[in-house]
Amino acid sequence: MDKFAVTVNHLCVQFGNFYAVKDVSFSVRVGEIFGFLGANGAGKTTTIRVLCGLIVPTSGEVTIDSEHFTKGKEGHIKRKVGYMSQKFTLYDDLSIEENLDFTAALRQIPAKICSARKKELFEFIGFDKSQDIIVADLPSGQKQEIALIASILHDPKIVFLDEPTAGVAPASRMRFWNLVNRLSQAGKTIFVTTHYMDEAENCNRIALMRHGELIALDAPENLKRNTYQKQIYLLTPRDKNCQKLLVNQSQEYFSMFEPYGQHFHAIVKDDIPDEKMISAVSDICSIKGIEPSLEDVFVKLVEEGITR
Ligand SMILES: Nc1ncnc2c1ncn2[C@@H]1O[C@H](COP(=O)(O)OP(=O)(O)OP(=O)(O)O)[C@@H](O)[C@H]1O
Ligand SMILES: [Mg+2]
Repeated sequence: MDKFAVTVNHLCVQFGNFYAVKDVSFSVRVGEIFGFLGANGAGKTTTIRVLCGLIVPTSGEVTIDSEHFTKGKEGHIKRKVGYMSQKFTLYDDLSIEENLDFTAALRQIPAKICSARKKELFEFIGFDKSQDIIVADLPSGQKQEIALIASILHDPKIVFLDEPTAGVAPASRMRFWNLVNRLSQAGKTIFVTTHYMDEAENCNRIALMRHGELIALDAPENLKRNTYQKQIYLLTPRDKNCQKLLVNQSQEYFSMFEPYGQHFHAIVKDDIPDEKMISAVSDICSIKGIEPSLEDVFVKLVEEGITR
């Protein structure tokens, strides 16, 4: 039987009359990398803040590491979770060491344990520079890696990472995800939000949020397999002029027509045979049937707002 690190039942968070999170239920397995995706304002950060014991939900139940979350028990929950927040990570004007020592003081980690833990975590991220470096002088990727180790200094079982790679260069994003994978292999449960679909591919399962509601939850490959009933085509216009012609014709033939760099991902309208579309546009573009990407899934479920 699956063991769960996080269980959420009918969670609601209201700000005034507005529901930031509306009747959301899901469970996160121990050791899983759980992706929490959705457009801006979907309710991701609000959910994380509840799960970290930072805000009390309007209604619903939360269980963290088998402990029922009730008012007054937040302190206990906080010891079990690490939180790398979306906006604030480290104090820019303090050194790496000062930041980590400050975190340790807040977490009441004894000095001896803290220094062993710092050593272990610097090795984990492969950091061998001086701890006296001021955080503002670090490249953004390295800053996020230090922020990650600050969030797990107290060795929590569950780590919440809220857009940890926003604004980080692609090579550094890959490095960061390597760390996330290694943490998961070491038995940590990772709850992560991202707007990068290539990163979401690394998740064991993905929850999709829209306007405060959970609209899908499955493994990336299942989401890709089950979201579209129709063939997706990759259309590549032969030149700029052909591109204009294709865009002009798109409304006539396609129910989905999304730009992807120089290409388009498209689905033929239900009442039009695929062959008809192919003979109509094959002079102006190359046409190839493809498997949907997570980006396609996101576009359909989140941006078109089609629910389960
Ligand atoms: N303290 C608050 N008071 C009032 N409204 C709030 C508060 N916190 C969040 N909201 C609103 O709740 C909604 C969900 O916000 P939340 O930050 O959870 O979204 P998100 O999915 O994390 O978005 P993003 O991808 O931009 O980080 C938004 O409309 C936001 O403006
Ligand atoms: Mg957010």
